[in-house]
Formats: sequence, structure tokens, C-alpha cells
Amino acid sequence: SLPVIFDCDPGIDDSIALLGAFVAPELDIRAILPVCGNQPLDRTLRNALQICELGGRKDIPVHPGAARPLCRDPIHGLFHGETGLGAARLPEPHKRPEPTGAVEALIDHLGRAVREEGPKITLCCLGPLTNLALALRIAPDIAGGIERVVMMGGAFHAPGNRSLTSEFNMLADPHAAAVVFAAGLPMTVLGLDATHQVILRPEHVARFVGASGRISAAMAGLMASWDRNDPKRYGTRGGPLHDPLVTAFLLRPDLFETRPARIFVETESPLCLGQTVADWYGQSGAPANADIVLKVDAEGVIDLYLGLLTQYEMR
Ligand code: BDR
Ligand code: CA
Repeated sequence: SLPVIFDCDPGIDDSIALLGAFVAPELDIRAILPVCGNQPLDRTLRNALQICELGGRKDIPVHPGAARPLCRDPIHGLFHGETGLGAARLPEPHKRPEPTGAVEALIDHLGRAVREEGPKITLCCLGPLTNLALALRIAPDIAGGIERVVMMGGAFHAPGNRSLTSEFNMLADPHAAAVVFAAGLPMTVLGLDATHQVILRPEHVARFVGASGRISAAMAGLMASWDRNDPKRYGTRGGPLHDPLVTAFLLRPDLFETRPARIFVETESPLCLGQTVADWYGQSGAPANADIVLKVDAEGVIDLYLGLLTQYEMR
């Protein structure tokens, strides 16, 4: 199975991404690295521990990540509710975080892969890129241990969702994104152009929440806050499955169409901070640094996802 590390800021959609990944036998989850993002670090860390317990995966090490972006002040998500898990009410976690931090864990796992003491790792990035940027600055050689970065972030043809131009993960730490985009890593990027094609609608949720059990109850709580009821933005009711598309891509890349391009990210302009700009035609003279997802088989992804979550009900 594919060795992966989840770098994330749970977060409603991060949690759904993790719950799907937990039951996929194709994935060997080596670590979860919560970071400051949708909520402050103490919350995203606690939420990650709670989701591991809910999903029956206390075995996965959770390493606390960066408590602040590289340069800017923290901003947090708007649609994740007070705790970051919407209306879901999960018990206090028993699971403890690892004593080593996320940056150390990345350097350790990837360093081992570089020294060929282990396989290369696929990094699944669902939040601001602070942890990975710090690890790359401290130990640039770890790049050789990365099989691929599959990340949710950016907006290419689509407008921003947290400012006029910028997607939340990019705006929350644009300087970290710049370090990662400049590192020459193999990358697949799922921005809003992709994630706004996959809207989880109330009727999808009803299909799943109809089933009994604690995962469906938690999903109902998560989704209660995620249905934005904003048809102007999404063309329908429901909420976009941003981060779960990373999990879906790992399992079924055939459901996604990508196009290579060079990605740059704005780190200075007050109006456009965090904007991702793609060079599709080679105008910049810089080589492509990412495969950008432009088209998604939305029904295929939703079927895959509801199938994954249903596995909990059958256990
Ligand atoms: C991204 O921002 C966060 O609020 C979500 O978890 C997702 O990673 C979408 O812009
Ligand atoms: Ca996220």
C-alpha cells in the first residue's frame, strides 16, 4: 500500500478526508501533522486526535505542527464552527500527541526515504503549507524522499474563497506556499477550480446519514455546518468537498484530469496576497512545477466517498 502522511488543519472537510483515508486499504498512513489553519493549533490538534478515535485509528501518530504561519499573522476558517468540527460533538480524546513535532517528523520520515531505509512518501497537504515549508528550509535534502505532494490549495481560473483572489490555504500562509512551489517537488494541485465541481448536496448526505451508527451521526454534525446554502457561489445547495478530493485522488486518479503548469504565489500585494497564478503556456520561461486538476468526475468521487464512509457501518 501507498505510504502517506497527512498534513492538515481539521477542520470539517479535513476530517472527512481523514475518515475516508482511514478505511482505504490502499493507504498506509504513517503520520498526521495538524497545523494552525482553520482553527488555532490547539484545536486542530485536538480535532485530529478526536477524529483518529472516532475512526478507530489510535495507531496513527499525531505530531503537533506549526502554531503560526511563517511571516503573517494567523487567520482562521469561517465555516468550521466554534470547535472546527461544525455541529459534531465528539468525546474528549484519550489519545495523546507524539512528543516530537511535525517538522521533525517530516524530516525523520523523508530523511529515511532519502537514505533508502524506507519507501518514498506521498504528502497529502490539506491546510496551510507551514510544516512542509519549515522542513524544506531546515533540511532541503528531504525533497528526495517525497514521492509526490498531493495538495488542496489555490484558485486558478476560479475566484478566491477567502479574499477576492485567494483560496484560504494559500492566503493563510502565502510565504510557505512560495517555498513549497519553488522546491521542485512532483506535485498535484487541487484548487477551487476542481473542488467547486464536487458539491456534497443535502440528498447525498441523506443517503449516508440514513444509515445508523456513530460515523453517520458525526457526518451529520459535520455537514450541518458545511451546507452553505449559497447557490450563487456553487450553483446548488450543499458544500464543496475540498480536502476529501485529495483522498479521492490517491485512490482513483482516473476520476481527475490534470494539466501541467508553473504555479507562482503572490506574497506582497495587499489586494492579491495568496493568489496563485499559473503559467499555462510557458510565458515565464520557468518549467512546470505542478499538475493542476481542472476537471473532476464529481458523481464518481461522491460515490467513492460515500462507499468509503459506509464501510464504517459494516464493521
Ligand atoms: C480549504 O480551506 C479550508 O477551510 C478547508 O479545510 C480547505 O482545506 C478550502 O479553501
Ligand atoms: Ca483544510
